[in-house]
Amino acid sequence: MKVKVAILGCSGRMGRNLIQAAVEHQSIELVGGSVRELSSFAHFDLGELAGIGAIGQKTSTNLNDLINADVFIDFTSIETTLENIKWCQQHHKALVIGTTGFSDEQVNIIEEAGKSMPVILAPNTSVGVNLMFKLLEVTAKAIGDYTDIEIFEAHHRFKKDAPSGTAVKMGQVIANTLGRDLNKVAVYGREGITGERDKETIGFATVRAGDIVGEHTAFFADIGERLEITHRASSRMTFALGAMRAAFWLSEADNGFYDMQDVLGLK
Ligand SMILES: NC(=O)c1ccc[n+]([C@@H]2O[C@H](COP(=O)([O-])OP(=O)(O)OC[C@H]3O[C@@H](n4cnc5c(N)ncnc54)[C@H](OP(=O)(O)O)[C@@H]3O)[C@@H](O)[C@H]2O)c1
Repeated sequence: MKVKVAILGCSGRMGRNLIQAAVEHQSIELVGGSVRELSSFAHFDLGELAGIGAIGQKTSTNLNDLINADVFIDFTSIETTLENIKWCQQHHKALVIGTTGFSDEQVNIIEEAGKSMPVILAPNTSVGVNLMFKLLEVTAKAIGDYTDIEIFEAHHRFKKDAPSGTAVKMGQVIANTLGRDLNKVAVYGREGITGERDKETIGFATVRAGDIVGEHTAFFADIGERLEITHRASSRMTFALGAMRAAFWLSEADNGFYDMQDVLGLK
């Protein structure tokens, strides 16, 4: 049986890719998608929105119209996602969250919701990125205590949060592995007379330019050599396909707070 999926935020850059990925997925049935109440894409054909031709299903401005879906995939905004969680909780629906930029407090709210619903928080749904998290853990364990660790990320000019959710997660994976508290050791950008680098710090550098889909590099640098672990996304379809994999996995999961490492069996 196919998993019934609805996409929240389907007029967005990711939303359009998610529609295409859902339509093309063998085990998923796309049952609808949401746009804002006053959106110019209200009651618009989902297929036309994604540029794949009409599929005979229209966008909705009210989540109650999407009640047939079992799993919701949300790539909207922080405020909207926090509202959508409440609705999914009330209606016992599973939720894959791709939206990024949540504060620690907001992550706690999502984690708490996981006690009464299945929810995945996935700041990056690409399979390659999640494998990279595993490689970072291995690398940090082996050489993290004596190398300088820096994280670089680049995204398109429209991205609203910085550093990216993926870059922050990279920092968290490395900090957790080394027994450091990221809130204490993170350095977000440098300017002026900064003094010598503190060995414990994990630096973040951000570029916003043009149409860059997403690039992330972790540097583990010593005197005489450095190791760089890089992931480059060249199309948003990689995130959309990963989100479908997450939705399919979540449809069979118990209530709980999960991430992509759970989906990919990397824990
Ligand atoms: N997890 C991942 O792998 C991954 C990958 C890429 C991006 N992201 C994240 O996903 C989010 C969206 O990214 P994007 O590039 O697709 O941004 P975007 O193009 O701005 O898309 C967001 C969409 O959500 C819509 N939206 C906002 N509030 C809504 C509501 N109440 N009901 C229905 N739709 C609503 C917006 O509609 P309007 O245009 O009408 O405001 C917009 O179409 C961001 O947080 C981004 O960082 C995650």
